[in-house]
Amino acid sequence: MAIRNILRMGDARLLRRAAEVRSFDSAELKELLCDMRDTMQALDGVGLAAPQIGIDLRIVIFGVESNPRYPDAEVVPDTVLINPVITFLSDAKEDGWEGCLSVPGMRGLVSRFTHLRYQGFDQFGALIDRTVSGFHARVVQHECDHLDGVLYPMRIQDMRNFGFSSELFPDADVRDE
Ligand code: NI
Repeated sequence: MAIRNILRMGDARLLRRAAEVRSFDSAELKELLCDMRDTMQALDGVGLAAPQIGIDLRIVIFGVESNPRYPDAEVVPDTVLINPVITFLSDAKEDGWEGCLSVPGMRGLVSRFTHLRYQGFDQFGALIDRTVSGFHARVVQHECDHLDGVLYPMRIQDMRNFGFSSELFPDADVRDE
């Protein structure tokens, strides 16, 4: 178990299309997921994608119990999602503020699809198939974007809605993520 270094925006490794995972339930995968969990928890993140720690694989983890940074957010189950496939279920989108461990101290307003189905595998190779909406759908889109080399600032439509958390939300107890 170890807390790994998070790559920050500007590092070219964040811009790659990550490779599919081919073997499940391995010691290497188990150790990687342990490190990802430790890292996400240490930094109080909502989600983490393997490319953010320099691992070029299609693996994301996410989960929200209750987080001071998202006081109104719905609970999202702790999930390991490998080789995800997203299907959008409507054209409806909504704006929401996002942060990212690879873009510390910043927030941006990003439009995301509100309803989607995601499929993939857990660490043992068991199928995951969920239909979700709202914040859960936003987290999935943000994390899966990392697997295609997309960081949320690339999706901000009006760059006036991008800035330092401490300036945008001076009264909030905003963490460095
Ligand atoms: Ni991120």
